[in-house]
Amino acid sequence: MAESVDAPDLKSVDFKVVGVQVSLLAFLYKLTSILKMKIFLDTADTELIQKYNETGLIDGITTNPTLIMKSGRDPEDVYQEIKDMGIRDISMEVVGSADEMIEEGVRLFEKFGFCSTIKVPMTRDGLMACSKLTDEGIRVNVTLIFAAAQAILAARAGAYYVSPFVGRLDDQSVAGLEVVRSISELYRIQGAPTQVLSASIRSVQRAVRSWYNGANVVTMPPSVFEQMYDHILTDKGLEIFDRDCETIKSNIG
Ligand code: G3P
Repeated sequence: MAESVDAPDLKSVDFKVVGVQVSLLAFLYKLTSILKMKIFLDTADTELIQKYNETGLIDGITTNPTLIMKSGRDPEDVYQEIKDMGIRDISMEVVGSADEMIEEGVRLFEKFGFCSTIKVPMTRDGLMACSKLTDEGIRVNVTLIFAAAQAILAARAGAYYVSPFVGRLDDQSVAGLEVVRSISELYRIQGAPTQVLSASIRSVQRAVRSWYNGANVVTMPPSVFEQMYDHILTDKGLEIFDRDCETIKSNIG
């Protein structure tokens, strides 16, 4: 019942800003794209999501069939639990023919509302589904992107996100970050609104360099997020400050 409240027909909602009629959906999309250096977690492990969501630094979650399989759970139970934590952007992957992906994408959007981003593969059917779902006012993440040419087609199909797989490109001795850079630069030159969501990230260095190379979002395993806090000099410095605090206390006490 609450779901229907979360999933209004946003395409039909509009309002006036300084006398100009604006679609609420377009406005919300614009608003979410203002936030820079967005951090997503790439996992279906809800215990870890809960733990790291408490930091207030997590902007969204990406899942895929492999991550859901590893969780051993029903995907929709996982999505519901993530939604209940207040996470506003959850990538939910669909498979099959274009028609099947459209049907499933619409169903998931109707069930989970505005937090749902429908993830489709970078295939002919995936892009047909992307166009249709985008027309319906649903955010689409086109996944399994390995080349700028694919990112051009996905942007033309109205993708909200494209997900280049940095680690899997690196595995093939192709510089994954170069692909991120070329897509980001291309979208900037052409003024395309599609956001680059850097995926298949296995180290802090690849995450940081993704943003440096123009990615709007980086999705990473929780272990990589955890390592973003770390620096040996922070630990060392804190050790000295803690010791000096104790000295101050004993001096004045
Ligand atoms: O989001 C896609 C990502 O999960 C793939 O990562 O490490 O399996 O290449 P990986």
